[in-house]
Amino acid sequence: MSLAESIPSRNEVWTVERLVTYTAGYFRQKGVAAFRLEAELLLANALGTDRVGIYGMWQAPVSMRERDVYRELVKRRGLGEPIAYILGRKEFYSLEFVVSRAVLIPRPETEIIVAETVKFIESIESPRLLDVGTGSGCIPVSVLKHNDRATFVAADVSDDALAVCRLNASKHEVDSRLRAISFDMMKPWREQLSDEVFDVIVSNPPYVALSEAHELQVDVKHFEPHEALFSGEDGLSMIRSVVDRAPDFIADGGHLLIEVGEKQSSRVIEYAGRKRAVVHERTINDLAGIPRCLVFRKV
Ligand SMILES: C[S@@+](CC[C@H](N)C(=O)[O-])C[C@H]1O[C@@H](n2cnc3c(N)ncnc32)[C@H](O)[C@@H]1O
Repeated sequence: MSLAESIPSRNEVWTVERLVTYTAGYFRQKGVAAFRLEAELLLANALGTDRVGIYGMWQAPVSMRERDVYRELVKRRGLGEPIAYILGRKEFYSLEFVVSRAVLIPRPETEIIVAETVKFIESIESPRLLDVGTGSGCIPVSVLKHNDRATFVAADVSDDALAVCRLNASKHEVDSRLRAISFDMMKPWREQLSDEVFDVIVSNPPYVALSEAHELQVDVKHFEPHEALFSGEDGLSMIRSVVDRAPDFIADGGHLLIEVGEKQSSRVIEYAGRKRAVVHERTINDLAGIPRCLVFRKV
């Protein structure tokens, strides 16, 4: 079925139900896993409502103007653009985050870092934290929402990403405790952070190997920012930089939490072991059983 067939001719009467059914069929054919859900979410967006809203107007006709808006959204999705970018939002740690193509779409596996960090800082009176490569700010904003004594420095090399991070911090009313700074993790940190010390440093840095670019899904490769994905030939350049530089900025007994890619954990643990500035405490697997979050303690 082509897109033209999926959203039928302008003169017919099209109800919400009929449009959803047609579009779901089109998305299914295009390989969209959640084809019906996404058809509903996009139509809700075109109609200025939410999913519950469209159920209340299931048999109502959709105007030609609204169908034109919907058609554009469906077209973008059909071309592979992730729905989070089309809608401009993504849920993470039960909070809604603004996203744009300047930031990586927050992933469920990154919620592990948030959950662990919240536990680490529970007993600290005024926890100070740093997020290296903050993107949308999903990690610091979620942590700050769960600890009202904490403060966060959210660092990223991309000014456009920092703008999204600031937007999310104000949306969730934690902006007074989050400082978003322009920062390059590959350059010396001292000049960029001066003598600040943190109880916890977290990072979900870019970790895809350039040599594995061809293995990425099309929607990731064509739509997500390459600067948020790739990290040198073996994918470990940025992780190595964090392991090398972060310990100097962690208080004694403080923690470093790093998200790693599939098959990277043992190499990173071994690298950190050789450096001796931190000890590996544990590794947490994601729901697919992949070692995902490495926890180190400053010695
Ligand atoms: C994998 S994304 C993670 C974003 C966010 N923390 C998350 O978990 O969704 C990595 C982030 O690192 C940033 N980044 C890439 N190179 C960087 C560098 N040299 N210094 C600082 N940040 C960098 C990217 O702009 C991107 O926002």
